Amino acid sequence: MKGIDDILAGELVRSALAARERSHSPYSNFRVGAALLARDGTITTGCNVEISSFSLTCCAERTALFAAVAGGEKDFIAVAVVSDADETPPCGACRQALADFNPHLEIILGREDGSFTRTTLDSLYPKPFLPTSFPHGNLSQ
Ligand code: THU
Repeated sequence: MKGIDDILAGELVRSALAARERSHSPYSNFRVGAALLARDGTITTGCNVEISSFSLTCCAERTALFAAVAGGEKDFIAVAVVSDADETPPCGACRQALADFNPHLEIILGREDGSFTRTTLDSLYPKPFLPTSFPHGNLSQ
């Protein structure tokens, strides 16, 4: 699989680990951090934010995605995810949200010690609903 080099992947994992420290997860005590890499090199991080009305909780991946889009980025090439577990592949909702921007996104599953394994969004989520599925949408917005 051709993707970002190991040095950059390691940097993304370290950024995700730092973001995990900011996790707000008083209900699950399960901390998650994500670091999203845009093609221009910008890294945007996110953590899970849990809300007392549980369904309002936002995963680390979508927190990072929304912050990155709000910061002017839309062209993403990779995301690293770390948690308190060994490996945490993005949940189904995050797979859909990420696929809207790049269905071929590289996914780096990181661990506490900085090691990681690689996969891709198209292998985890092979047939997404896509923005192009809207016949009358305006993708330039
Ligand atoms: N969580 C994430 O942040 N990302 C995932 O991919 C899986 C789940 C969070 C949501 C919630 O705060 C906690 O982990 C338990 O589900």
